[in-house]
Amino acid sequence: MSLLTLKNISRIYSSKFSSITVEAIKSISFDIERGEFVAIMGESGSGKSTLLNMIATLDRPTTGEILITNKNISNISDSSISKFRRENIGYIFQDFNLLDTLTVEENIELPLVLSDVNIKEISIRSKKVMKTLGILELREKYPYQISGGEQQRVAIARAMIINPKILLADEPTGALDSKSSSMVLNSLKGLNEAGQTVIMVTHSIVAASKANRVLFIKDGIIFNQLFRGSRSNEEFYELISDTLTVMNEKEELI
Ligand SMILES: Nc1ncnc2c1ncn2[C@@H]1O[C@H](COP(=O)(O)OP(=O)(O)O)[C@@H](O)[C@H]1O
Ligand SMILES: [Mg+2]
Repeated sequence: MSLLTLKNISRIYSSKFSSITVEAIKSISFDIERGEFVAIMGESGSGKSTLLNMIATLDRPTTGEILITNKNISNISDSSISKFRRENIGYIFQDFNLLDTLTVEENIELPLVLSDVNIKEISIRSKKVMKTLGILELREKYPYQISGGEQQRVAIARAMIINPKILLADEPTGALDSKSSSMVLNSLKGLNEAGQTVIMVTHSIVAASKANRVLFIKDGIIFNQLFRGSRSNEEFYELISDTLTVMNEKEELI
C-alpha cells in the first residue's frame, strides 16, 4: 500500500472578478511509498507549490483524489481537515516562519501545545528532536539570534515533533547560503534515512540529487521522473542536470 496516492489531480484557479482561469495542475497521478525521499523540480510557475499545498491539505484539488494511507483526504470535511493536518503533515517553508517572540524550544513545542499531549511528554519529544537536528544548545535562543541554517533546522524540528506521516518542504534551502543549505539537506537526508517520508520542492540540483526520486513538472503536468537507483550523488546530479536541459530546450523550440 502506498503512503500517498494522487489520482488525476487538477487545480484550476478562477477569480470572482474575471473570467480568466489558470490551470495550475492539469492531470497528475503518482504514488509515493513510505520512506521515500522525493524531490519536485520545475520552473517558476510550473505548479510545484500548488501541488505541495494540495498534498498538505492546505488547498483542495479541482478534480481528482488524494489518498494518504488509503484515506481519501478529499472527503475530509473542512471542519476536520486542520486536525488531520496537525496530526499527519509536517511542512517547512522557504522563509522558516518561526515566531520571533518565542524561543527555539517554544517554537518547536508550539504544534503540540494545543494538542492532548501532556507537558512532560512535549518536553521529552522536543529535546529528542532538537538532539536529532543538532540544535539542543540553541534551545533558549530567539530566532533572530541564530543563523538562517539554524532557523531552518528549528523549523524542521517543529515539523517533526508531531511525528508526521509526510514531511513536506517548499524550497527549504531557497533562502540559504551553500554551507547552511548543505546542513539543512543533510538533516533532511538523515531524517529520511531514519525512515521519514520526505517530499521537497527545489530549484537546486544539489538539493534534488540528495533525493531518491525526482519528479519534473512543466506547465502543470509531469514531464519526467528519475530514480536514483544505485547512482552516487554526483552521478544523479549529472542526470538531473541533463534532464533539466532537455526540459528547457523543448521550451525554446516552441
Ligand atoms: N492563489 C492563486 N490564484 C491564482 N493563480 C495562482 C494562485 N496560486 C498560484 N497561481 C498560478 O498557478 C500557477 C502555478 O503556481 P505555483 O504553484 O505557485 O508555481 P511554482 O511553485 O512552481 O512556482 C502560476 O501560473 C501561478 O501564477
Ligand atoms: Mg512555488
